[in-house]
Amino acid sequence: MKVLVTGGCGFIGSHTCVELLEGGYEVVIVDNLSNSKKDVVNKIETITNKKVKFYEVNVCDFKELDKIFETEQIDAVIHFAGYKAVGESVSKPIMYYRNNLDSTLTLIEVMSKHNVKRLVFSSSATVYGDPEKLPITEDFPLHTTNPYGTTKLMIEMILRDLYKSDNEWSIALLRYFNPIGAHKSGLIGENPNGIPNNLMPYIVKVANKELPQLSIFGNDYVTKDGTGVRDYIHVVDLAKGHIKAIEKVSKDRGIDAYNLGTGKGYSVLEIVNTFMKVNNVDVPYKIVERRPGDIAACYASTEKANKILGWKAELEIDEMCKDAYNYVINNK
Ligand code: WQD
Repeated sequence: MKVLVTGGCGFIGSHTCVELLEGGYEVVIVDNLSNSKKDVVNKIETITNKKVKFYEVNVCDFKELDKIFETEQIDAVIHFAGYKAVGESVSKPIMYYRNNLDSTLTLIEVMSKHNVKRLVFSSSATVYGDPEKLPITEDFPLHTTNPYGTTKLMIEMILRDLYKSDNEWSIALLRYFNPIGAHKSGLIGENPNGIPNNLMPYIVKVANKELPQLSIFGNDYVTKDGTGVRDYIHVVDLAKGHIKAIEKVSKDRGIDAYNLGTGKGYSVLEIVNTFMKVNNVDVPYKIVERRPGDIAACYASTEKANKILGWKAELEIDEMCKDAYNYVINNK
C-alpha cells in the first residue's frame, strides 16, 4: 500500500514515515521544505534501509500535485503540511488561513480527481480551547483562541462536509496533544530555527548552552505546583498512532476524531526537573509572567483511540526527555 505524506520532512511527518516504512508501506513525501530540510529524506532511508520517493512541491500547487497523483498509484494520504506556530498565527493570520486552508482544499480536489478517498489529517488539541474539565474527550465543545487553531478547526469542518457530500470518503482527524522527544537513532527530531516557542525545544537549547536560561511562564496557575500542565506524548508513539489510523481508514468509511495523548499531565517544573535528572545536565530557569493565551492544564482521555484504533502511548516522560536531548547532542 502506497501512502502519500504531505509535510513528511517535518518533525511528526518524518517520524511517521519511519513507522510507515517499517510497517511495510511504500512512502511518497511531498514537502516544500519551508520549515524542514531535504536531508531528512536520507535520514529516514538510513534508519529504515528503505527507499522513499520525495517531491519538493507546495501542496497548494494543483498542477504539480496532480502530476504526482498521475505518476504514483496513491492509496491513502496523511496530511501534515501546514504552518503551526501559534504566536506567528496571531501576527500573520491571513498567511495562516491562506496556506493551511488552500493546501488542504487543493489536496482534497486532487485526491477526488484521482478517486483517492482515504485521509488522515493532522489536527490538534488546540481545537478544544480552554477545557471546562479534564480529561478531554472528543465530544467536548470545540472553540479556538488563535488563528492556527482556527485553521485546524475549519479544516475539520470542511472534511466533515466533504464526507457528508460523498460517503465514499474515509477520514481520521488526529488531535495531537504535546509531541516531544525524537527517534532513538538521534538522526531525526525537533530542532526549530531561531528561538523556539515550545517548551521542550527551548529546554534543549538551554541545556546545550545555545540559550542562557529558560523562562517559566507563570507559577500561579491552580495546578500541582503552579506551573502549566500539559499532556506530553513521545513523537514515536504519536507516529504509531498514524499507522493505526491508516489501517482504520483503509478498512472503514466515515469520519471521526481521536485524541492522541498519554492521558497524563505533567507540569513545566516536572518536565524541567525530569530533563535535568535523566540527562544529568543543568537547565537554569526563572519564573516570569504568564504567557498570554496559555491555559492552566490540558490532558487527554485516550479511551476512544485505544478502543477504536487499538492504539495506546507506551513511552514515558523519562524517555521523551532523554531522546529529545540525544537528538541535539547527536546533531551539534
Ligand atoms: C507548554 C507549557 C507554557 C515555553 C502548543 C500549541 C499546540 C501544539 C503544541 C501544535 C505551557 C510553558 C513554554 C517556554 C514555558 N502545537 N512554556 N516556557 O502552548 O501547550 O501548545 O504547542 O499543534 O497547538 O498551542 O505548548 O510547549 O508552547 O507550552 O514555561 O519557553 O510550557 O506556558 O505551560 P502549548 P508549549
